This record gives sequence, structure tokens and C-alpha cells, in this order.
Amino acid sequence: MKKYLQPCYLLLVALGVNSTPSVAENDHYCRAPATTKDHAAPMNYPDQFAWQLFLEVNQKAKKEYATLNGKKVELNNAIWETWIDDSDNFPQNPNPATPPAWPTKTDGHNLAYISFSHQTYSEDKTRSEPDCRPDDLKNGGTCEVVYRNKATFEYIKNNNLWYQEGIADYVKTGKEIVFPIDSIEVKGNWKLIKENEKRDYHWNYTTDGHLIGLVAMHISSKVIPNWLWATFEHVDNPGRCDLLGCYDCYGVTNPVTQPNAKTFGSVYPEEPLSPALTKQYDKNGFKGNWLKEWKNYRLKGSMINFTDSYGNASLLGNSVTESGFVATSSCMGCHSRAAVTSAGQKAFPFFGELPSTAAIGNVPAQYGLQFLTVNGAPNPADFYHRAGNLNNNNPYGTLQFLQTDFVWAIPMRAKSIKQNNQ
Ligand code: HEC
Repeated sequence: MKKYLQPCYLLLVALGVNSTPSVAENDHYCRAPATTKDHAAPMNYPDQFAWQLFLEVNQKAKKEYATLNGKKVELNNAIWETWIDDSDNFPQNPNPATPPAWPTKTDGHNLAYISFSHQTYSEDKTRSEPDCRPDDLKNGGTCEVVYRNKATFEYIKNNNLWYQEGIADYVKTGKEIVFPIDSIEVKGNWKLIKENEKRDYHWNYTTDGHLIGLVAMHISSKVIPNWLWATFEHVDNPGRCDLLGCYDCYGVTNPVTQPNAKTFGSVYPEEPLSPALTKQYDKNGFKGNWLKEWKNYRLKGSMINFTDSYGNASLLGNSVTESGFVATSSCMGCHSRAAVTSAGQKAFPFFGELPSTAAIGNVPAQYGLQFLTVNGAPNPADFYHRAGNLNNNNPYGTLQFLQTDFVWAIPMRAKSIKQNNQ
């Protein structure tokens, strides 16, 4: 295993990262099949569990039509595309008398955020948040949208975590935010595609009728206390396994695709799918065009811990969704900073806490600047006031910021009922 880690380690040193996080070894260690009853399957076989989730949420949904931009189209929904999205879950002008409702029909994707593959966002001072604009999809740009299942949605709704004052009331109760174990969230990134590319992508439409293809898909599941994190990529994504490599102990015949250390942004060879996964596609009823579409996706990796048992930060990032900060990306490290103040507002910026650093060598512009992001185990001092804690009986100090159980949408998306948020 060590030999795979070396190029990545060297690169991070070259990037000027002070500590030396590496792709955690234990997370990517393929265990022999269980010979006795496995009571902790998602922990022991996270990649297999990630594929199980993938097959579950990507079941074909019932046929739906929509009129988008005056044109009647047949949607191509998977189950998760019928769940509630962030824009419905976190209304712009929340009114506690009319809480968000579970959707009864779908009408195309309301793409909310640009992916960081467009570095221009940070330079455009007029944009406080990287919202998706029609122009962002031109010239191969990608935009994203988040969906959550009913268990996750109901927890947010029933605890009034969908607006800032509701969150502030929750903080006062002194309880932790803990989502139910059947919670699942999905973030999808999309690009414009042409009609003849439908066979190569999971495709669908935007709310204004543009044909789009799925390039990246994050899935997180509360099956374990700090969630299980997995990210999938379209096999043709340029630079798919750059910097960190791709690791899949279940879905492909060779578990490790090493990062290409010489050329950034090239398309990696298509790894053959494993007989085990091929069988699961069949068992789960994938056939015809539906099967063809989904067979173009590969697991980049899954994550179940902040660090490996040595304390090395575990890293995982998607070449599209985390573009620009893949080198230090940690799903759990960043999401642990989803936290709120006593006023129900965001405690940490989701981005920009650490500097960016130039990658050395012959690197194309879009990879030239890597933003450093928080990884490894969380630092309790960021969440607690430690002062004076020797004088009281609380060994941790006083809690200052309440974590939102890794769900970034709560601090980032919830608006206040008091102001006009237009
Ligand atoms: C540097 C920070 C950062 C990293 C690293 C990161 N995310 Fe996120 N993630 C966010 C933010 C901010 C949001 C909410 C805004 C949005 O939708 O883009 C989010 C949203 C999500 C959501 C929707 C649920 C929610 O929290 O609101 C999922 C699922 C998700 N991310 C999965 C992942 C996975 C899987 C990885 C690792 C492969 C990952 N994230 C890495 C910052 C990060």
C-alpha cells in the first residue's frame, strides 16, 4: 500500500501543506470477505456499502412529464431526484406557519451552486455565494443541487432547523443535533449535454428545460454515527483520479487507480467493473438504457473516519465537486465544521479559512491554485470556550458553536424570518 501513497505525499509537501496528511491507509485497505456474520458491514466494507447505496438511490423513479420553458419533456428521474432539494427545504423567506412540504411531483433540477471548477467565482466580488447562473453551464461548466430523503427532511422540519430562529431555539435546549440512522443526502453535479450523449450519462432537465448530464455524485448515509461518505464520478471526467487516486475495493477489478503524477486533467482509462457489482446491477433490476447510463460511473472512494489509526488525515474529494481543493479535501473534516452560533447562524465559513497555495510544476491553470481545506480530527478548541474550565466541573469548557451533525445546509442555507432575504 505504501507505494501508492508516496506520490500523493510528495505532492502535498510540494503544495506547502505544513502537516503531512496522506490518503489514510486503513480506509483503503481491502479486507478479505467475512467468513462469519459481519455485525459492522458498513465499517468493514465501506465501498461495498457505498455501491449498495448507489444502487438503492438510483432506482428508476416512476415516469413523470413536465412542461419546462414551454416544452413538454419526459423526465428521467432516479429515486433521489424525487426527494426534496435545498431550495424547497430552506425557503428564502421562511414562515413558521407554513413549513416546507415534501414534494408531490418533480419539475426538473433547480441547479443552485456552481462547482468550484469555475475558479472565477472567488474573484468575482459581486458574488457572495457561488450561486449557479445560466452562463456557468456554458463552455463545459458544472452546477450542483442537493437532495435529502424523507427521514432527513422530517428531522429538519420537526426540529425547526429550516430557519435561523428555529435553530437558535434548538441551541437553547442544550441537545445535540442527531439525524436518524435512515438519513441519506445526495449532491449531484451536472453539465449541459447534447441529445446524442443521453446514452452515456444519467441525464435529466433543468427547470428551464436544458438537457443535462450527471458528472459527479456525493452520497452520505447516517448508517454510522459520523455518516458514511462516498463519491462517484463519470468515468470520462478529466483528472478523475488526480492528486488522491481512486480507491474501490468492491466495484472494479483493480481496487487502486494511482494518480497520474505527470499530467493533470487527463481522462483515466475506464476500469472494468467487478463481477460482483455487475451481478448486483442485475439483481437490483437495472436494465436497458438505465443500466447503460449508470455503468459509466465509478466510485472514487468512501470515507468512514477523520483519520486512520496512525492519525493521518483521511482524504477524499471529487474532481468536479471539490475541484480546486481536492489535494486536502476531507468530507468529514470539512463537514464537521457545519456548526451554528446561539443565534442560529453559520459559525464557520465553509471555505476560505486556510490560504490557497500554488502547485508547483507544469500544472494547467485550473489546477494551479489549490485551496487548503480543513482535514483530520476536529479541534475542540474551535467549538468550546476553554477559558476558566479548570475552575468549573466541565472538562470541555463551554460550548460556543453547536455542530449540525455534518449537515452544511443548516448553517449555510437557513434564512431568518425577520428579514426579507430576497
Ligand atoms: C471544504 C469543504 C467541503 C468538503 C471537503 C466537502 N464538502 Fe460536502 N458540502 C460542503 C458545503 C459547504 C455544502 C453545502 C452547500 C452545497 O450544497 O454546496 C456541502 C454539501 C454536501 C452534501 C449535501 C448535504 C449537506 O451537508 O448540506 C453532501 C451529501 C456532501 N456535501 C457530501 C460530501 C462528500 C461525500 C464529500 C467528500 C467527497 C464532501 N462533501 C466534501 C462543503 C464540503
